[in-house]
Amino acid sequence: MSRTIVNIGPARLYLGDSYAIRPTLGWMDADVMDPPYVFRAAGGGHYRKSRTGMDEIMEQGLDQGFDHSIINPLMCGAVVVFCHNDQLPKLLPYLDGSFKRQAVCIWRKLNPQPVANKHYRPVMEFYVHAWNDGFHPQGELADLDRQIVAMSPRGADKFGHPTVKPDAVMDKIVRNVAGETVCDPFMGTGSTGVAAVRAGKRFVGIEHNPAHFETAVRRITEAVEALG
Ligand SMILES: C[S@@+](CC[C@H](N)C(=O)[O-])C[C@H]1O[C@@H](n2cnc3c(N)ncnc32)[C@H](O)[C@@H]1O
Repeated sequence: MSRTIVNIGPARLYLGDSYAIRPTLGWMDADVMDPPYVFRAAGGGHYRKSRTGMDEIMEQGLDQGFDHSIINPLMCGAVVVFCHNDQLPKLLPYLDGSFKRQAVCIWRKLNPQPVANKHYRPVMEFYVHAWNDGFHPQGELADLDRQIVAMSPRGADKFGHPTVKPDAVMDKIVRNVAGETVCDPFMGTGSTGVAAVRAGKRFVGIEHNPAHFETAVRRITEAVEALG
């Protein structure tokens, strides 16, 4: 399988398929991932028709979920996984069987989409932090809140990606994970990598979409250069 590798200071970025590449990378202190969600992307009425974001999500297969087996407790001390509400019933038992403890945390959005679609408003996104001995959540008491409140990126801050995560959210998550090495197998535009570099950690990212990979290279290069 062809792959491109780009090294940027403490970061190594792979352009390719994470299911093929992640098992070859060996131990990482933390796998931090925002994989494709599973959710019903149809519906939403007039508001949905006037917005292209959901079309992009479907075109890029970001509503099709992911294979849980990419989370391997023999290859990492802890994992942080973003997921949709509909994925929790299957994800939590998988993590419960793989890690010693886990916590469901939330990113509370200040600017949620104004839709409900016969459900609740999407005012929060879930992420699960699961860990084994020695890799429990890190930080001062204020940093150990299970909730982070932040705006959803808009305009240029989306970097041309339909589901980019805010810096404030990723900075908090990276502060909360133990250890020196962070891997994101669904890197997108490199939000985890930017946070990891800023936190002084080593980062390995994998992304199969060339346009998003290029954005990640640019963002992480800028983050490394900003450190001086
Ligand atoms: C939800 S997005 C991550 C967005 C990222 N957190 C950010 O802030 O930019 C998931 C990403 O995983 C990528 N992806 C999906 N399946 C993949 C695979 N098998 N190997 C590598 N990347 C994959 C998609 O192209 C997408 O950019």
